[in-house]
Amino acid sequence: MCGIVGYIGDGDTVTILLESLRRLEYRGYDSAGMAIIDDEGNARIFKIEGEISELESIIPGISSRVGIGHTRWATHGRPTTENAHPHCSGNICVVHNGIIENYQELKDELISEGFVFISDTDTEVLAHLINKYDTGDLRLAVSTALGHVRGSYAIGVLSNEHPDELIAARKDSPLIIGLGKDENFIASDIPAVLKYTNRILYIDNLELISVKQDSVRVFDMEGNPVEKKEHIIEWDLEAAEKAGYPHFMLKEIHEQTRSIHETMTGRLHELEGDVNFEELGLNRNEIRQFQRIEIIACGTSYNAGLLGKYLFEWLAGIHTDVDTGSEFRYSSPVLDPSTLVIAISQSGETADTLAAVHEATSYGCRTLAITNVVGSTIFRDASHTIYTRAGPEIGVAATKSFTSQLVVLYLLAIHFARARSRMDADRARMLLSELRKIPGHVSRILEDAGTIQECASMFVKAENYFFIGRNINYPVALEGALKLKEISYIHAEGYAAGELKHGPLALISKDVPVVAIAPHGHTYDKILSNIKEVTARDASVIAIADCDDCEIRKFADIVIPIPKTDEVLTPLLSSVVVQLLAYYTALELDCSIDKPRNLAKSVTVE
Ligand code: AGP
Repeated sequence: MCGIVGYIGDGDTVTILLESLRRLEYRGYDSAGMAIIDDEGNARIFKIEGEISELESIIPGISSRVGIGHTRWATHGRPTTENAHPHCSGNICVVHNGIIENYQELKDELISEGFVFISDTDTEVLAHLINKYDTGDLRLAVSTALGHVRGSYAIGVLSNEHPDELIAARKDSPLIIGLGKDENFIASDIPAVLKYTNRILYIDNLELISVKQDSVRVFDMEGNPVEKKEHIIEWDLEAAEKAGYPHFMLKEIHEQTRSIHETMTGRLHELEGDVNFEELGLNRNEIRQFQRIEIIACGTSYNAGLLGKYLFEWLAGIHTDVDTGSEFRYSSPVLDPSTLVIAISQSGETADTLAAVHEATSYGCRTLAITNVVGSTIFRDASHTIYTRAGPEIGVAATKSFTSQLVVLYLLAIHFARARSRMDADRARMLLSELRKIPGHVSRILEDAGTIQECASMFVKAENYFFIGRNINYPVALEGALKLKEISYIHAEGYAAGELKHGPLALISKDVPVVAIAPHGHTYDKILSNIKEVTARDASVIAIADCDDCEIRKFADIVIPIPKTDEVLTPLLSSVVVQLLAYYTALELDCSIDKPRNLAKSVTVE
């Protein structure tokens, strides 16, 4: 996730672009850059590894009437000055948010034609492609170039041959146009322009925009004009940064339709029935040689890791253990180079997880980091890294970073299963095509959030909650309990449902709501029995179940339906439900949702 901006008009271009970029820092802030055309008609480019304030410090006072800017959250290539945007080729400069899936093949082709690449980014191919097709009509050059591209993009394009025009385009990445008086703006999101205008055009997929000082014209990719409706934004700036949501947590829960998609982008190869993890750096032979996997993580990332254990064992037939970073570092692990150690950390900075990576390295193990933050410490310390691409997460409670971790684990387990001949191509294809549908299923859960909100309010007085699940649903039970206690301060326990009778059943009474994660699957009958055990003790049961499950309604007080998918993928959907349940409970209790007491987003101390 990155932020792009563009400005054309009589204002102070540099100041306006810097101010707009600051408003998009929530989208990423590991490097930044700007290209402007000065009053002599020269393109001036400034880039920096660092934040917007550092970018500001390297730009001298320049008078300019047009420019584009970028704040980056690295996906392809580390956060360095070379990889910062804009990327340029000849007269063309481009800022981009999104992922060009076929960038490698385009890059090879462009190199063979003599184009020279100076960055590791996917975006640089766009600059060269537009340059290649530029015969004097910038808009045509951009649409021709985009015709060769697969993937997602919101772009801003500047050329010093056309100092009176900016071109923007969108596919699957957000883009808006701000309409001013004798000035116009492009941006990834409304907060970037709200200080200057509240008149907005929302750009849809496959639209291309010519932005001039006194006009904005929108076209489809064939060059036909498109009529757009102007929207007046009534929010203030603070509300706009949360895109109108009252909390970052709710915004991030809603962003999961997008973030889950981003995590999968370019990685699903349905035709071959396999997963493409270019960055993994492990070939099939190496994957086959691992005897065991050890997963290490903390908190929510640990819960993701626990699901990983079930997946690696079920799908890929490889023995997997999971441990918390804080315990692992003081245990006496039995490790050797035949163990792959997977460390999961959203921030990539959690001290306990990092210590475990060092410990594993000292045993000669390969270490694979799964992280959301490009260039974080875990990336430097682990031998291999996969990025989750969930985009920056501001709320302390992990939500979209969790589901993106799950997606990476699904993809890894499928990839390992294929490499180890434990899964045939047909089954892999089926799972990958079901995975593609998950963002749509998540949308439906979000649309129906009313039932979850009502449920939260029914049990808001409860002092204790139980979350129960079996097998792959057990990690979701743990995560549901963690989310609830973390933001609502209600005591909650996540339990493997079959364990209730070994102790906790003594705590079950009419005052204790029990959330049962109960989609159809091979343990469905078992969880039904566990539900009966708790209803017999007068507990109220909230069941998260398949939308076509009529049976469960006989036993549960409330049923929260989730769309049908393959059994193995249901945790991706039930996770969203438990996040919303925690959110609405904390909302009723008027808790500090984005910054819960005593907690921090990144725990860099032991
Ligand atoms: C949960 O909502 C938390 N934010 C917390 O448990 C978190 O997952 C844990 O501190 C680990 O953080 P990491 O993923 O950044 O390593």
